[in-house]
Amino acid sequence: MKATVRAHTNIALIKYWGKRDENLFLPTNSSLSITLDRFYTETTVHFDHCLSEDVFWLNHVQADQKETKKIRAFLNKVRDLTGEVRSARVESVNHVPTASGFASSASGFAALAGATVKASGVTLSERELSQIARQGSGSACRSIFGGFVEWQKGIATDGSDSYAVQLLDQKAWDLRILAIEVSTEAKKVLSREGMKRTVATSPFYQGWLKATEVDLVTAKKAIAQRSFTLLGETLESNALKMHATTLGADPPFMYWQSSTLIVMETVQALRDKGLEAYFTIDAGPNVKVICKPEVEQKLINELSRLDVVKHIYPCQIGPGLCYLEG
Ligand code: PMV
Repeated sequence: MKATVRAHTNIALIKYWGKRDENLFLPTNSSLSITLDRFYTETTVHFDHCLSEDVFWLNHVQADQKETKKIRAFLNKVRDLTGEVRSARVESVNHVPTASGFASSASGFAALAGATVKASGVTLSERELSQIARQGSGSACRSIFGGFVEWQKGIATDGSDSYAVQLLDQKAWDLRILAIEVSTEAKKVLSREGMKRTVATSPFYQGWLKATEVDLVTAKKAIAQRSFTLLGETLESNALKMHATTLGADPPFMYWQSSTLIVMETVQALRDKGLEAYFTIDAGPNVKVICKPEVEQKLINELSRLDVVKHIYPCQIGPGLCYLEG
């Protein structure tokens, strides 16, 4: 059996930062994201009784042992659930700009979860798929859905109540996202390691947990009321708080570069001049700027003047999993 699935990346407006269970990918806090239309992964999974072990091809090249091991471990989790016994050939193509520093693990594991389950001949709900995708990369559980998505952290030790739910569909509120590339270097501290170190050592972590709970409630209220200003202020402040926890870690680390700060300052300065936009940053130096459609072009013009900006990718809000032919 063979299946091909497309999944889009997402960016968190309220960040997932820290796990309470490393094996099951259970988060310490709930998070909220928007799915992006522009960046996605397409994955084909083909279960074949002729194969003696799983093989993984990424962007048309056979992946190394380390990458293949990660995929195999994930496939084993799905096989345990679906009763599938055959090995698989997995072919994944990332439509995320090469080496841009924009994470593809969310779209990657969401597409892999969807294609593996479908190729096993099993039908699961989106909620169940979200729980499976979560166990490849936490943020992947949100990419099962389009639009505005909340990952509810849950409290059960087996992870049965930790999954994503859609708050608004793709068309419900037209916001624009500018993905601003300032660096294509690989990040020094991967998100998995970064959150682990922060949870274990940062004295700011408890403050983060308290504050992010309040931010989530505020962001959901802003979304329900379509209040862009309230949402923008909340998401920008939430990103700053997440990054503040890393400065308190031992050893400390920082995802920002000087170019990151220049973009942040420029967004704030433009806002002071009446061009309303807000920034967020994940586990790397690149910046995402959120705005309303009517200011998008003006913002692109202003930001593209900055020497530190290598590329601007304008994005819209995107869909959830899409099952493709073949
Ligand atoms: O799921 P991961 O391991 O890619 O971690 C994502 C961490 C952040 O991007 C910083 C925040 C988030 O909620 O996506």
